[in-house]
Amino acid sequence: MNLKILVTAGDGIGPEVTNEAVAVLREVAELGGHTIQIDEKRIGGVAIVKDGSPLPKDTLDAALASDAVLLGAVGGNEFNSLPPDKRPEAGLLQLRAALGGFANLRPAFAFKELAVNSPLRPEIIDGADILFVRELLGGLYFGQPREWNKTTGEAWNTMRYTRDEVVRVARIAFELASKRRKKLTSVDKANVLEVSQLWRATVNEVAAEFPAVTVEHQYVDAMSMHLMNQPRNYDVVLTENLFGDILSDESAVITGSLGMLPSATIGGKVNLYEPVHGSAPDIAGKGLANPLGAILTGALILRHSGGLEAEAAAIESSVRKVLEQGFRTPDLTRTNPQGFPVLSTKEMGAKVRETVKAELLATSR
Ligand code: NAD
Ligand code: IPM
Ligand code: MN
Repeated sequence: MNLKILVTAGDGIGPEVTNEAVAVLREVAELGGHTIQIDEKRIGGVAIVKDGSPLPKDTLDAALASDAVLLGAVGGNEFNSLPPDKRPEAGLLQLRAALGGFANLRPAFAFKELAVNSPLRPEIIDGADILFVRELLGGLYFGQPREWNKTTGEAWNTMRYTRDEVVRVARIAFELASKRRKKLTSVDKANVLEVSQLWRATVNEVAAEFPAVTVEHQYVDAMSMHLMNQPRNYDVVLTENLFGDILSDESAVITGSLGMLPSATIGGKVNLYEPVHGSAPDIAGKGLANPLGAILTGALILRHSGGLEAEAAAIESSVRKVLEQGFRTPDLTRTNPQGFPVLSTKEMGAKVRETVKAELLATSR
């Protein structure tokens, strides 16, 4: 297997966590005799500073020529007063649009060992295993018109979807639900918004193609509460762009930390892989970032772009083992009664590498 991955590490903790993800990927590739070719390009704030644009042409060209793109994170406080189209985040949105992936898969599962790190009670989160399917190219993020009219003191954005945009993401969500626990929860605000009424009607149409999957609809406000009360009730959760952004960060409460969540965006020309978290300016450059979300994102690259299911699963089970052995990054130490060892970003990456190596050598014997 030969995989060409473009790494766009970006800003803040982006480079710190992608370094560890790449090191794990290299280790796994070497052990399995696979070639992984890694190229690196700028995106976000670093690209604004060095190239004058949050998505330089050189980066976009390299992304389109790769088999997969691994993005760290973009954004920094020094850019916060810029208009949306000039900010680091604009580079990420342009990249998403250009690569064309519209189905953003955000798995959120509870690690038993991290239950003490959640403000929810262990018996509530135990066994929770949710796959968010977030529509990534529509809704308020891309809808026109959008403007802040400083003369009149008005601003507007447009939450717009076409039926086809809903059909294509719903099909992916139903297909994934068919291979899991066969339950799909679609989230909307159909009691208020026309765009949500279209969403719900279209999801029901697609549901007819998947009779084995049970469908339910929830309003987004109620869903944000149900998720915390009964996370085990959910299998695949299908949402439009903004609702998915919000609910997936909320699901970090189930997994114990935002630093644990991976994502994969599929359906376009080139798949895009990003941990769910941002650039975390509050902890950047200090070796405090949890690299496990990025490392688990690396596993998703092997699964969805490399066809290497066993290797992807080995990374996931190594992350679990490292946690079982008690190793933690600072975000995973809300309570640390056992006095578990607290590792830096690099040390945690090294632990996963060591564990995945032992695991792959044991299975190849
Ligand atoms: P954030 O996700 O960066 O951080 C939220 C909180 O979680 C912070 O306290 C942070 O320290 C913590 N955190 C996040 N990732 C962590 C990790 N791996 N390990 C330990 N702790 C972690 O969100 P924010 O602070 O709202 O946004 C900061 C910047 O990141 C903004 O510019 C935002 O637009 C951007 N952002 C980018 C992406 C992306 O590039 N995919 C995603 C979300 C936010
Ligand atoms: C995410 C982020 C992005 C989003 C921002 C940085 C554009 O919050 O990937 O969750 O809103 O999609
Ligand atoms: Mn987000």
